[in-house]
Amino acid sequence: MADNATATIHVSQGNQKIYKEIYGQFAEHLGSCIYGGLWVGENSQIPNINGYRKDVFDALKALQIPVLRWPGGCFADEYHWMDGIGPKDKRPKMQNNNWGGTIEDNSFGTHEFLNLCEMLGCEPYISGNVGSGSVEELAKWVEYMTSNGDTPMAKLRRQNGRDKAWKIKFLGVGNESWGCGGNMRPEYYADLYRRYSVYCREYDGTRLYKIASGASDYDYDWTKVLMNNVGHRMNGLSLHYYTVTGWSGSKGSALKFNDDEYYWTMGKCLGIEDVINKHAAIMDKKDPKKQIGLLVDEWGTWWDEEPGTVSGHLYQQNSMRDAFVAALSLNVFHRHTDRVRMANIAQVVNVLQSMILTDQKGTGHMVLTPTYHVFEMYKGFQEATYLPMDFKCDSIMVRGDQHAKNGRKIALLNTSAAKQTDGSVIISLANISLDKAQKIDINLDGFTGKTVTGRILACKSITDFNDFEHPKTVKPADFKGAKLKKNVLTAEIPAKSIVVLNIK
Ligand code: AHR
Repeated sequence: MADNATATIHVSQGNQKIYKEIYGQFAEHLGSCIYGGLWVGENSQIPNINGYRKDVFDALKALQIPVLRWPGGCFADEYHWMDGIGPKDKRPKMQNNNWGGTIEDNSFGTHEFLNLCEMLGCEPYISGNVGSGSVEELAKWVEYMTSNGDTPMAKLRRQNGRDKAWKIKFLGVGNESWGCGGNMRPEYYADLYRRYSVYCREYDGTRLYKIASGASDYDYDWTKVLMNNVGHRMNGLSLHYYTVTGWSGSKGSALKFNDDEYYWTMGKCLGIEDVINKHAAIMDKKDPKKQIGLLVDEWGTWWDEEPGTVSGHLYQQNSMRDAFVAALSLNVFHRHTDRVRMANIAQVVNVLQSMILTDQKGTGHMVLTPTYHVFEMYKGFQEATYLPMDFKCDSIMVRGDQHAKNGRKIALLNTSAAKQTDGSVIISLANISLDKAQKIDINLDGFTGKTVTGRILACKSITDFNDFEHPKTVKPADFKGAKLKKNVLTAEIPAKSIVVLNIK
């Protein structure tokens, strides 16, 4: 038995672009995200392109990632960029105090990161050190990366083998300055932001988009103080929201969970919409023209580390439940394109809700996660025009938490639509129900399509995942369950599946 849903998509009423940066990624010096994930070094047995792991690079290239945030996270506020330039054998080692005390050799630094971005065709998003770094250090980093003149830092960059400045736009001034980034109060950080950002100069036509370190999920006071005390001195303000059970004790297993925990996760990840609305309302008061972007530059699931992996490295598996968190969160971001300028899932390889997992034993195996497949299936939303929709379907009540004491009501079918630059319409349909298909009739108001094609990410069990022995348990397939008659589309979305349709 299937439930019935109806929708009208107002194809001629779209007027907001879905910024491609909403599909942003995040790479921190944490566990094996950089070392062993993106970077293995030129002398590795694992096939690589100038030190970048080839299989990982190819998979990321196919994902068309628009922007990559680096070097942290918490790591950013202890990172001293000068240790990561020049001949590799002369670079000092460092202890990664935030993440397991691991010793790093700084072989992946500014050149290695920015060259990777160029090869991937994505924008770099540099996260600057405010917590333990000086104004001078950050100012010089900006000069090193972006100056083309006869300046000391540009000269140093040239000595290190890079003639032309890189193109940098996104610059974070600190990270989680209320916590690992310096344990500051918002008023103090606001003043520091003002000071540090002045000296991040714009060299040779560079236009920096300066991002202030923003709130953790429900901390509305932080946003209020930043809007009052910094205002339009910042181009963007960040927000971090993790789908996590709490910050003390077990966060639950990535793979062993029951139906109640699955539905709780759906409710929690959708809770980001209320959080965005509340921060946006505070921003609206000082910035009614919505010139300051809200950047959700860390989001995703945070489960217990996989048993047997290094403590502090945040290596977690990724199941179909994570794929749903990705699909639902991206659908939320699409709805808030007026304010949400960027989002960066944490993190790209081997950390938290990653796109890719590499074998920690160094066997050279790699696997694409269910989350990767969602990002790949949703690629067509990047830069498309968001389409408003009237939508009706069945809902259920799911367990809440201290932020939703009476539980959360969630619609069983979660959807989003957009018009792509070639004029075709893209629709995502995620059926959250574990046991019921959802039949939907969609009126494409103002659009007569000729053909519909689709892909589906389905599973036998919501706990399904990919590992090195079974890398293709969860993978997209063609979807034939949609029919188009003039401007009406009908589809039946199987239980616990995610479908993306294209109508031309
Ligand atoms: O993504 C992992 C960590 O989560 C980041 O380093 C930090 O900013 C956040 O607390």
